[in-house]
Amino acid sequence: MSVMHARRLAALSFLVAVAPVAAAQAQSLRVASPDGRNVVTLAIDRGMLTYAVARGPVQVVRPSRLGFRFRTEGVLGEGLRLVDSARTTRDTTFTLPWGEVARVHDRHAELRVVVEETRPPGRRFGVVVRAFDDGIAFRYELPAQPNLGDFEIIDELTEFVMAEDAKAWWIPANVPSPDRQEMLWSSGPVSKLDTVHTPLTMQMTTGTQVVIHEADLVDYAGMYLAGRSEGRTLRASLAKWKDGAAVKGRTPFVSPWRTIQLADRPEQLAPSLLTLKLNPPSRIADTRWIRPMKYNGIWWAMHVNTATWSSGPRHGATTANTKRHLDFAAANGLGGTLVEGWNVGWDGDWTKAGDKFSFTQAYPDYDLPGVAAHAKAKGLSLIVHNETSTFIENYERQLDSAFALYQRLGVTAIKTGYVGDTTSPGGHAHQSQYMVRHHRRVIETAARYGITVDMHEPIKDTGERRTWPNMLAREGARGQEFNAWGGEGGNPPEHETILFFTRMLAGPMDFTPGIFNLLLTRSGTGVARTPEDARPRTTLAKQLALYVVLYSPLQMAADLPENYEGQPAFRFIRDVAVDWDTTVVLHGRIGDDVVVARKAKGKDEWFLGAITDEEARTIEVPLSFLGGGSWVAETYADGPGADWRSNPLPVAITSRTVTRAVTLRIAMAPGGGQAIRFRRAR
Ligand code: NOJ
Ligand code: CA
Repeated sequence: MSVMHARRLAALSFLVAVAPVAAAQAQSLRVASPDGRNVVTLAIDRGMLTYAVARGPVQVVRPSRLGFRFRTEGVLGEGLRLVDSARTTRDTTFTLPWGEVARVHDRHAELRVVVEETRPPGRRFGVVVRAFDDGIAFRYELPAQPNLGDFEIIDELTEFVMAEDAKAWWIPANVPSPDRQEMLWSSGPVSKLDTVHTPLTMQMTTGTQVVIHEADLVDYAGMYLAGRSEGRTLRASLAKWKDGAAVKGRTPFVSPWRTIQLADRPEQLAPSLLTLKLNPPSRIADTRWIRPMKYNGIWWAMHVNTATWSSGPRHGATTANTKRHLDFAAANGLGGTLVEGWNVGWDGDWTKAGDKFSFTQAYPDYDLPGVAAHAKAKGLSLIVHNETSTFIENYERQLDSAFALYQRLGVTAIKTGYVGDTTSPGGHAHQSQYMVRHHRRVIETAARYGITVDMHEPIKDTGERRTWPNMLAREGARGQEFNAWGGEGGNPPEHETILFFTRMLAGPMDFTPGIFNLLLTRSGTGVARTPEDARPRTTLAKQLALYVVLYSPLQMAADLPENYEGQPAFRFIRDVAVDWDTTVVLHGRIGDDVVVARKAKGKDEWFLGAITDEEARTIEVPLSFLGGGSWVAETYADGPGADWRSNPLPVAITSRTVTRAVTLRIAMAPGGGQAIRFRRAR
């Protein structure tokens, strides 16, 4: 148990010990955010504890029930009375070693209530609510008590009764797909939702933006949201163990926070800092070894099928090829190189035989100590790939020996992978408590060995980067890889304009931008019916803009090194920062377009990224975010005739002097974008 949890539980046991107070008689209790706008009301209604949420005059969540169903102890959440309540407020600022912003202001009001069953067995639980200016959050506390010790939660009874049949952007959950969360987004009214992932972003007719997600998921099951046919009620639906349990635990116990981010306009949703405020402070005292970086890799070649993970004549991860990639990284200011397919286990159908993976033994044509030394000599990180195919026990057995080896070799970064699903022999639902525990174990073990983590097919991000800043980036959505596979599987041009307001609100994504050879004529593993079908559905300028739009402390220059040779536009990838002091969303409409500006950490330099969907658009943005004086705007725009369908490559690179008084006209081609670096004019 973390120190923070222990403290919270100590506070709770104090509350439980005192006699019922006047609050017990109250019908309902309210807590408001410091700005007074976000209000949560807790009430006992026909014996059930409910909460409701309003933002100013707008009712967002109508009274919604709270509670649990246990496997053997039945329902906890009926026949309740209020036995205690307590209030606190907090106003602090904390810094992040890396991020979309350097500092986070945590200002909130907290209300904690304890309820008890009026009839035997008289069990108790607590609910803690925090109201922030950017949203609200609540969590359950199950104190130690005679009639509730070891337990198995079958169902969390938390409901979100949406006040309006708001428009939601969603991806389906509970789908037996090998790559959970790697789905195309749909939009539609809440009443049409089946079971969906969080973050779930909704827009009300009042313009109020509502995002349901969770924070501090440590030893619990990930939460999906389940619609009720034709209703506006979403229910928490927990990922399951193989035996049907959702959460196994023992009191005292706390749940993750259920978070509802609130804003008036889509632009105010990002950067989303709510979950960071709800996670404990860093457990890593000295974080100087943790470095955001750009990287390249032996990766895209396998996805476009010009090299293989497996051994043989087309093996990608050879010593010579790795050195070539490292040399390219060093020559171009990248921080590291990812190598996939270096280790024994890739021959045959690795997706079904993850127990064959060794995380220490390299193929004979890959000199691991040699390439690690080569990387170290050039000041680069070798990013060691650990694909598990969800054979978790096989990976956990090797964790210590593998990480110890990497540490000895000076390797400070890994990328994990969990290709597989619940139907594979080692498979556990990706968002299950089993996997939540596993990922924590990997993150904490990696921290002990001085290793950072990039996680693919991950558990969702709930803000653990505040506590474990070695947890850099993860996938958890459709990334660039889908564009390699071609056919109908490619990402549509609107994809990233939705990601920005949905998945990206959870945390950084290893999307892997930067594909320059957009005229792929054959697909990797998909089926392309026409040459156009095989292509990524983006212009080249948009690929550059993604470095700014889709935040990650790890940004890949994903294309093959040879595809960057002689490309003036590659300059932007060399220049762009990966760590930021501040982030400003200048314009955004979910599914249409986004314009973001970010100030490079500790530098007088700004970067702007603008992207559009399949429509050409011109957006005017005032440059008032810039400091005074003159700036040079180095602009990478869609060139003449650019169009993702027919002509994705033209990029117009221009330079002009601007001041903060200027309003820029950003013209984007269909499927296009624009990237700008602002540096001080001399
Ligand atoms: C899927 C990951 O997203 C991708 O990056 C990786 O190359 C393959 N799995 C193989 O592990
Ligand atoms: Ca993937």
